[in-house]
Parts: sequence; structure tokens; C-alpha cells
Amino acid sequence: MDCLRIAGGLPLQGVVTASGSKNAALPIMAASILADSATVLAGVPDLVDVNTLALLLGYLGVEVKRHADKTLHIETVDPRPTKADYDLVRRMRASFCALGPLVARRGRGVVSLPGGCNIGTRPVDLHLAALAALGADIRIEGGYVIAEARRLQGARIDLRGPYGPTVTGTANAMSAATLARGRTTLVGAAREPEIVDLGNFLIAIGAKIDGLGTDAIEIDGVERLSGASYQVIPDRIETGTLLIATAAAGGEITIEGIDPSHLTAVLEALQATGALVTLGPRQVTLRATGRPRPTNVTALPYPGIPTDLQAQFMALLSLADGESQISDLVFPDRFMQVAELNRLGARIERHGATAIVTGVPRLSGATVMASDLRASAALVVAGLSAERETIVRRVYHLDRGYEQLERKLRSVGAQIVREPDAQAGSPHAAAHRNIAAAARLQGVPR
Ligand code: UD1
Repeated sequence: MDCLRIAGGLPLQGVVTASGSKNAALPIMAASILADSATVLAGVPDLVDVNTLALLLGYLGVEVKRHADKTLHIETVDPRPTKADYDLVRRMRASFCALGPLVARRGRGVVSLPGGCNIGTRPVDLHLAALAALGADIRIEGGYVIAEARRLQGARIDLRGPYGPTVTGTANAMSAATLARGRTTLVGAAREPEIVDLGNFLIAIGAKIDGLGTDAIEIDGVERLSGASYQVIPDRIETGTLLIATAAAGGEITIEGIDPSHLTAVLEALQATGALVTLGPRQVTLRATGRPRPTNVTALPYPGIPTDLQAQFMALLSLADGESQISDLVFPDRFMQVAELNRLGARIERHGATAIVTGVPRLSGATVMASDLRASAALVVAGLSAERETIVRRVYHLDRGYEQLERKLRSVGAQIVREPDAQAGSPHAAAHRNIAAAARLQGVPR
């Protein structure tokens, strides 16, 4: 297991190119099950989650190969398997996106229930209701969802749950409906750019879809879909994380290869904290202007501020000159980062779905533990801005969703290195380091 060692307090300065979007790539890869011939995806980030889904697709008879030009070639070589095993699905909930394509294309999908995770209970009831509305026979046996249908039938499906529309539920329903007989209307559908991207991919392989980017999507089922080449959108969460890190640590960063329209609410919030933001056609530049102004942030479904940036905003606002309120209305329990940020000297108190953040002039480095993907990103943001050294342990969470984050941060001046956790965490390893250092001082060979 690795950890990240960060020497904080250095401003970030330079230009970074955005990676492709993880949350767009995953449902698109799963939807490739629908196509009769090969699909070629450009811009798929090289991440643990992408590799986990590639492994799962392999078990489902779908060959996934990354070529030297960084494109991903996806082709069904055996359309018979229908089971997505617990061991892979528990590693990554997005595996559940295979269920809709499996039942639509192969007549049967058997996918493990994903279970809970660190950011809340995360049910899949809306996914199942959507597939049932399309005529799938759904039952749960031994922890697996079994969905079967000779051919799905178009329907009206409401994708709103108590916390707004479901993103991957919309992906499952939209993908499944492409091969259903007749028209499907999704109401209360997710409007996230990643859903628009999935829709555009499905259109590229032959689907008929209207209303992408609105909460009402219409899909006219077709008989078959065939492969195509497709470019995945850039990752707005990665961009947001790097911008927030710069606002916290100081300096000026430019992120290239982005779609600024996906970041409107995020940029507005960053400007409210006092950062200077300038937009180019495919790029954004942020210049930090000193201590952030207190700002209230509420994570909402798109076009609101994404819940996937809530923890990073909390790290930034820990340094604000006053009190901020941060609420998460998408995942009201997503506050795992609070205790660790407080260990770095932040003053944050949680009250239900809201955290009150009383800004402090500076954070001070410590060893902290990452609990989930975006909480780890928040700890990196905090570590970059903190005095002295911060060690972020359990950094494998970060590898699920950020492509070469340390390398990108180093390229803009951060001092951040990855090392095996044994060296950072265990007192024995520290003792060995001290002995080795003492030996070097005395000129003793080791
Ligand atoms: C996706 C993203 C994740 C992001 C989240 C919200 C991917 C791979 N993951 O996750 O990074 O944080 O959207 O933007 O794209 N809910 C139900 N019933 C359901 C499904 C969801 O009540 O059947 C609830 C959830 O508990 C949550 C809310 O709806 O409170 C939104 O969840 P959802 O949009 O489904 O999140 P994911 O699609 O899992």
C-alpha cells in the first residue's frame, strides 16, 4: 500500500492537461456491450476503476485492449456470459452500469448488489425500478440481482429519488432503452455532462435519443447498434480539484483541454472565494489572491456544484477568513473527510447534511488517512496548503479516480512523492530510516 508525502506551503504554477472523464468513460465502456461490432474510445483515463471495469467486461466476454495511441478497443467476442461477480462489483459501484446493457442485449443480466460504501448507503432501487418498468423480470437471489427479458418494452420512467436524480441509474435506463421496442421517456433524468456524453456515444453507435442535458430524455428503441469511434469528455472533477488546490496553496494554474461550460457553478464558487478565473475556449486559468473569503457551498445535482468536489471545497474553506457552511444534498452523509481535516488543524463541525467550517489562518501537516476517493483528494488539497509535511495514507482510493495526480501536481511545482506506506506509517520503518541516516552520518556502510 502506498502513501503520499507532501511538503506543503508551495504555490502551484504552470499548465496541466486535463484527463478524460472517469465517470463518463465507465458507463460508456459498459454500454459497449450493446454494440454488435467493435467500439474505439479515445480519452479513457488510465485508472484503477477503468481497469476494474475492463476486467469485469473480460469476464462478460468483452475484450478490452488499450492501444499504443491510448485508445481503448472494446469488442464482444463471446455474447453468452451474463454474470458480474461480487468480487468486482464490490470494488466499484459503477460495475452496476453493466446490468441495463446485459439485459437489453443478452436478455439476462446477473449483477451483484454493490452494497454500502464510505459515502453512504447508496441504494440501487431506482435502477431496478427503471428496468422493471421496461419489462424486465427482476429478482434478488444470494446477493445478486437477476434481470431477464426476451425484449424490453419502452416505458415512462421516473429517475428521481429522495436526493434528486440518480446518475448511474439514468445511465442504466438510457442504455437499456436503446434496444427496447418503442419509445421510452425518462423523467427526472440526470443532466450531468457524463450522461450527455453517454447519450452522445449511444447516438454514435446508432441509438435514437432526444433531450440530452435536460431532465426529460426520449429514446426510440432500435433493432441493433453497431460500433463506432468516440472521444470521451474531459474530467471536470479532476479540473475542479486542481483549481481548488491552487486556490488553497496559492499560485496560478492553467488547465487545458477542458469544457468550461461543465464547470460554471464550480468557477462561480471559486470566484466567490476571491480567486481570479479567466476562461479560454478549451482552457481555464485560476490565480489565487491570498486567504479565501468565506463562502457557502451546497452540493447539488448538475448544474449545481458536484458532490464530488464538496470535500475539496471544504479543505479550501478551512483556510477562509471567516465561517462557511458546506452542505451536501446529494450524499448527506459524505463527510468522512471532516475528522481528518480537523487533524490538520481545521475547525469543522458537522450538523446533519451541513458542516460549519470556521476558517483558520493555516493548516499544519500531519499523517492522515484517506477514506474514499474524493475525501483523499481533499486531504491532498489540504496537504499542499499546510505548513510542514503531510502524509496521506491509503492513497489507493485516489488511484481509482485521478490519472497521475502526483505527476501533474509535481509538474506545477508541488513537492509530492509516493512511497510504500511501510516507510511512512510504521514506527519500525521510521526507526530503520533513522538508523540508516545515522549510519550515513558516521560513514558506516549499510
Ligand atoms: C454517480 C457518480 C459519483 C457521484 C454521484 C452523484 C459515477 C460512476 N459515479 O454515482 O461520482 O458522486 O453520481 O453525482 O458516475 N439513490 C437512490 N436510489 C438509487 C440510486 C441512488 O436513492 O437507486 C440516491 C443515492 O443514495 C444518492 C443520490 O440518489 O443520495 C444520487 O446518487 P447517484 O446519482 O445514483 O450516484 P451514483 O450514480 O452512484
